[in-house]
Amino acid sequence: MMISQKMADAINEQIKNEFYSGWLYLAMAFKADEMSLKVFAEWFRQQEAEERAHAMKMCDYLSDQGAEVALSALDQPTFDGSSIGAMIDETVKHEIFITDCISKLVDVAKSENDNATFNFLQWYVEEQVEEVASVTELADLVKLAGPNQLLMLENRMKETIAQRASEPSA
Ligand SMILES: [Fe+2]
Ligand SMILES: [Fe+2]
Repeated sequence: MMISQKMADAINEQIKNEFYSGWLYLAMAFKADEMSLKVFAEWFRQQEAEERAHAMKMCDYLSDQGAEVALSALDQPTFDGSSIGAMIDETVKHEIFITDCISKLVDVAKSENDNATFNFLQWYVEEQVEEVASVTELADLVKLAGPNQLLMLENRMKETIAQRASEPSA
């Protein structure tokens, strides 16, 4: 194994967090479906696919470094699903939490003098800046739209979704 056990354990913990993020967004996708907000549902499904890709990228990294990928049980997703606004706010909160997790992971890489992992994690550092910015913007738009203009907002979101779908996977 080319990385320390401490580093491998920390990455395995983050793999769980990334899969959990996907699990959370999938649960939110079905909630949005229940509310007949099909475009929001699609947006959450896209988020789920991205989170799974984030997790898989870490799995592949551990594997490349000769470390064990230790998958564990995922918690049941818990969130306020009372409205689409509440769910998007939960998404912002969750992405800020994940940003903090990545930051702590970078600290471990530094303390282990692990340049390869430090370098690998920079992709996630950048990705989190993008994620927090885009979900915060969406949270603002939901507030601006209010309950009566959610369908108009969904129309606007269709373009972003199509664009993301055409990008090579994260
Ligand atoms: Fe992620
Ligand atoms: Fe994310």
